[in-house]
Amino acid sequence: MTKNIVVLGCSRGIGYEAVKFISEHTDHNVIALSRNVSSLEGMKNVDAFSFDLNSQNVREELSAILKNYKSLDVLINNAGTLVNKPFLELSQADISTSYQTNIVGIMAATQAFVEHVGDGTAHILNISSVGGIQGSVKFAGLSAYSTSKAALVSFTELFAEEYKDTNIDMNCLCLGAVQTEMLAQAFPGYEAPISAAKMAKYIVEFSLTGNEYYKGKILPVSMSTP
Ligand SMILES: NC(=O)c1ccc[n+]([C@@H]2O[C@H](COP(=O)([O-])OP(=O)(O)OC[C@H]3O[C@@H](n4cnc5c(N)ncnc54)[C@H](OP(=O)(O)O)[C@@H]3O)[C@@H](O)[C@H]2O)c1
Repeated sequence: MTKNIVVLGCSRGIGYEAVKFISEHTDHNVIALSRNVSSLEGMKNVDAFSFDLNSQNVREELSAILKNYKSLDVLINNAGTLVNKPFLELSQADISTSYQTNIVGIMAATQAFVEHVGDGTAHILNISSVGGIQGSVKFAGLSAYSTSKAALVSFTELFAEEYKDTNIDMNCLCLGAVQTEMLAQAFPGYEAPISAAKMAKYIVEFSLTGNEYYKGKILPVSMSTP
């Protein structure tokens, strides 16, 4: 059955590769959302919309897009932003943009998705970071980023509890290093053991079937430190 898969954060990196994989290797439709969408032009079965998680009306703006679809099957909350600065150099704007993008906007976008899911089963897959897991190895400079990703981990467990008797499942993959622009910002010069395309394939496949095996789970997907 053809599914409608919403991918949040898709102009580059892992999200871009996820949309490309779905378009080239499946019959599913993608509703692709990020501020820039020009890189997705010409991809088959992809509806791309410019969308900003920093907007004050995330829920309403996404609702206006999603109401045009009869049903929704998958939401991949992949969008994220990273600031790498020593703690005392973080501006309040650095901290609030990290939180607005990585958790506040994601929660509001998830509200819009839930409103328009329809009667079928749906899987919401959050993309967090190993750094957001309590007890993992931590890195200097990432306090705004990793604490906001920890909130996404916590949101997964809380949502899953609240929705446990419904048709909507949520899980969270906590990624280790993947070769993207964000990684270069966090760890300049470091080479990740996995490409964005390879991780994207895993994420897409997990988003389609993972909720048959996991519900409300926080799963590290990492081959390295960082
Ligand atoms: N790469 C890694 O090593 C790694 C490790 C752990 C976790 N992760 C997580 O994996 C996810 C993907 O990371 P990546 O490495 O592919 O990052 P990336 O290359 O920096 O891509 C981030 C994506 O998020 C979108 N985005 C950022 N701010 C947005 C906003 N305000 N509104 C809408 N979309 C926004 C960007 O699109 P626009 O700029 O066009 O809006 C872009 O498509 C992130 O959640 C990240 O935290 C990555």
